[in-house]
Amino acid sequence: MPNMIPLYKPQNTIGAEVLDAIREVLESGWLTMGPKTLKFEEAFADYIECKYGVATDSCTSALYLALDGLGIKAGSTVVVPVNTFVATANVVRWLGAEVLFCDVGVDGELDAAKLEPLLEENDNIKCVIPVHLYGFPCDMKEISQLLKKKGVKMVEDCAQSVGAMVNDKKVGSFGDAGCFSFYATKNITTGEGGMLVTSSEEVKDRALLVRNHGQNKTPKEKFTHWRYDVTDLGFNFRMSEIEAAIGLKQMEKLELITDSRKEIAKRYKEELEKIDGLKMLHDPETNNDRQGVFHLLEVKVEEQYPLKRDALYDFLKNKGIATGVHYPPLHMFSYYEKTTKYRKGDFPQAESLYAKILSLPMFPFMTELEFETIINALKEGAQTR
Ligand SMILES: Cc1ncc(COP(=O)(O)O)c(C=O)c1O
Repeated sequence: MPNMIPLYKPQNTIGAEVLDAIREVLESGWLTMGPKTLKFEEAFADYIECKYGVATDSCTSALYLALDGLGIKAGSTVVVPVNTFVATANVVRWLGAEVLFCDVGVDGELDAAKLEPLLEENDNIKCVIPVHLYGFPCDMKEISQLLKKKGVKMVEDCAQSVGAMVNDKKVGSFGDAGCFSFYATKNITTGEGGMLVTSSEEVKDRALLVRNHGQNKTPKEKFTHWRYDVTDLGFNFRMSEIEAAIGLKQMEKLELITDSRKEIAKRYKEELEKIDGLKMLHDPETNNDRQGVFHLLEVKVEEQYPLKRDALYDFLKNKGIATGVHYPPLHMFSYYEKTTKYRKGDFPQAESLYAKILSLPMFPFMTELEFETIINALKEGAQTR
């Protein structure tokens, strides 16, 4: 549908400013792991207030590097919230470790009250991955305290939450490592890309090695002399200079992007309050100690609304408005059903949310016409019987 209102609009935040930066890279003759990547890593780590940044080709790779750097391997157990994008759990499996799923709270985020008994019952848990889903931070005060008490490591999945804060401290700086995504739809994007942040020199050094095939020299160091060693197994998880140049330009706009998302969330709140049966999952005006960046705009489609979630999805689609469902709980995917002990009914909160939630279009600099079209369609849906 040509005039569809999409769920995301990355073109609203990437402008002509990136073209000069890309041209500069192309003319330099240095297309990967060069000065732009180093600058992006430094700027991003500074922004999160961590010592090191390691740029990668995706957040999935960054998660892999973070867990690997903390020694997660076959025999380790890692806790993952059951409500997340599947990458969070897949990396644990690729490392040969066991995944324990944990239910979420009413806000869809990892719930400290449900995590605590899991930690009590399983003393082989090595690491927990809180996911700041939808751009909304988990309750880091409770979770950090719990993990500290138990001596369990923490890798934060910040794929959706660049700039989100708890009491003015940015997500990504609470754990042993934080992992960010710059995938096409994320709050800042490089098309594909990711970043690992950490203040641990050991995690950083190991990540640099594994990111580059286990070679003990970077491309630049090989320039001085070709001789190098391969000291361990590795991958190609590198970020290109073109992506890093785009990332640096995106960072300059991050505050503007976040402000616009928050403003749109407030407008949604004002309008949705007038519609019976549609409730926002995260209130932009409360939870001041947990400041979200509204990567996704989640509404719960309650009983009072005449259309059920799937019917509303179809209704909006027919009106040219794209929406989405984030996420089916991981234990309900056939791969995890086949390979874990979990069954439908095991995670009541995540399953109940899954039945009701719908992501509405959310992108910075949404026009008044786009916004009104969405709200009018939701109001029209409320009149159907
Ligand atoms: C919560 C979460 N974790 C991890 C990822 C993986 O990110 P990437 O696509 O950059 O590998 C995503 C991507 O959508 C995500 O939403």
